[in-house]
Amino acid sequence: VSSLEELKDELLSITASLEEDVRFDIKEKEDTVSITVVGASGDLAKKKIFPALFALYYEDCLPKHFTVFGYARSKMTDAELRVMISRTLTCRIDKSENCGEKMEQFLGRCFYHSGQYDSDEGFAELDTKLKVHEVGRVSNRLFYLSIPPNIFIDAVRCASTSASSANGWTRVIVEKPFGRDSESSAALTRDLKQYLVEDQIFRIDHYLGKELVENLSVLRFSNLIFEPLWSRQYIRNVQFIFSENFGTEGRGGYFDNYGIIRDIMQNHLLQILALFAMETPVSLDAEDIRNEKVKVLRSMKPLQLDDVVVGQYKGHTEGGVTYPAYTDDKTVPKGSLTPTFAAAALFINNARWDGVPFLMKAGKALGSKRAEIRVQFRHVPGNLFKTKLGPDHDRSTNELVIRVQPDEAIYLKINNKVPGLSMRLDRSNLNLHYAARYSKEIPDAYERLLLDAIGGERRLFIRSDELDAAWALFTPLLKELEEKKVEPELYLYGSEGPVKAHHLAYRYKVQWG
Ligand code: NDP
Ligand code: BG6
Repeated sequence: VSSLEELKDELLSITASLEEDVRFDIKEKEDTVSITVVGASGDLAKKKIFPALFALYYEDCLPKHFTVFGYARSKMTDAELRVMISRTLTCRIDKSENCGEKMEQFLGRCFYHSGQYDSDEGFAELDTKLKVHEVGRVSNRLFYLSIPPNIFIDAVRCASTSASSANGWTRVIVEKPFGRDSESSAALTRDLKQYLVEDQIFRIDHYLGKELVENLSVLRFSNLIFEPLWSRQYIRNVQFIFSENFGTEGRGGYFDNYGIIRDIMQNHLLQILALFAMETPVSLDAEDIRNEKVKVLRSMKPLQLDDVVVGQYKGHTEGGVTYPAYTDDKTVPKGSLTPTFAAAALFINNARWDGVPFLMKAGKALGSKRAEIRVQFRHVPGNLFKTKLGPDHDRSTNELVIRVQPDEAIYLKINNKVPGLSMRLDRSNLNLHYAARYSKEIPDAYERLLLDAIGGERRLFIRSDELDAAWALFTPLLKELEEKKVEPELYLYGSEGPVKAHHLAYRYKVQWG
């Protein structure tokens, strides 16, 4: 039986990879794709982008004629770039022996050009080098802006004027932050659109590339049992939880200008909320899905300061280990009020969700690393078994948990009879545990997103009106917090976060999961 199951899994995975190949139509098979990582010497490029490109290459997902270029100011030869990249490539997807060989082949397709981000000359030189590799074929060019936001526009201007494709497509992946409020975000969009049309801009939110976030629509719209329950009629509250068990280590300079609300809530958690709460889209087409997400975002009630709790971690010593405070980071100004934790209650003003609290919680330097969606259902009316459910009756309503990471799982908490002669109930999980069910490694979010950008699939990227709606929701709150200089509640590094977060949940008769 087990080998039959394995065979079935294998067939499913072959079908899936064939489906992925369809993204590049036959005509495009002879075209070239050049992927330029702008800011190639940086942290994100090394940690995520190059490894994701290698994984795609390894899985035969990249088009036949592709080249990877690194572009940054640092002086490096092609060989040095390859050494740098090779340090972070892993054979995690490979159970067999040919990973080293594949790595060498991949590295052989990687090149480097050093130049300034605001230099037309630098990008024109890059263009010349790209042409050498394109050898007269139709050239498609993808630029990944993995650089600080203050130089986005310079790089886009130079790339679009001096290094865009002459006969194929040119696309630009833009990393967050997309501004820090409505005004700066609108200015960024306006500036980008001086050089690119909306269809060329791929705003990345890597949470949309996570397996379980992508699966949300499948769960909702391809199973009969969930959608009828997906409303205020059956759902008591929904929680979106992001927690990291480390601080801003090394990124304090960036973080202090943004804070956890901009870093996580306004984008990653809000995007998940939109996918969770949207109406059924007309189709799976990118525009149909993004239209529905925008509608939900625009239906949200303005956020009230009263419905928000902010916190900041403080240092302490335990068992001989010293945990730093946020403000111990040398790049963080003394006395900074920037929140490293926030919790908020949000509401959607529409017929489906009226009155249902959508609670968000995001924090750094907490006790665990996890990202989860928790859906708590209403009580069973006139429950025959109320007395058998024990004193913690409130905890005995059904709960659906979508564990985005780590150890991906979807489980439903149900009440169940304990086997035996007595009528005793307990809580059990109907559990879809990914590691147990699927033998295939889950791809990194960046792999999916890069593949989609190459294939021109925009579904998982943020459209400008979505971004406007997201900022419209958070900007007034952020301004109020900053104008009133609201002091974050201090919480211990490694703890559960501020106590006030529990008070907030309690106000809506909710317990954090
Ligand atoms: P880095 O700070 O590592 O910068 C990337 C490269 O940009 C550097 O190697 C450097 O290359 C160049 N650079 C850095 N500062 C400046 C400057 N002031 N002026 C000109 N060039 C500069 O950034 P990351 O790799 O961490 O992030 C890249 C982008 O991705 C940013 O927008 C970030 O917000 C976003 N991001 C990053 C994440 C991460 O985990 N790192 C997560 C999510 C988003 P050189 O000196 O060689 O030119
Ligand atoms: C980034 C944030 O967008 O997401 C970081 O800027 C955060 O602060 C990171 O650590 C978390 O991503 P992941 O995929 O590790 O959960």
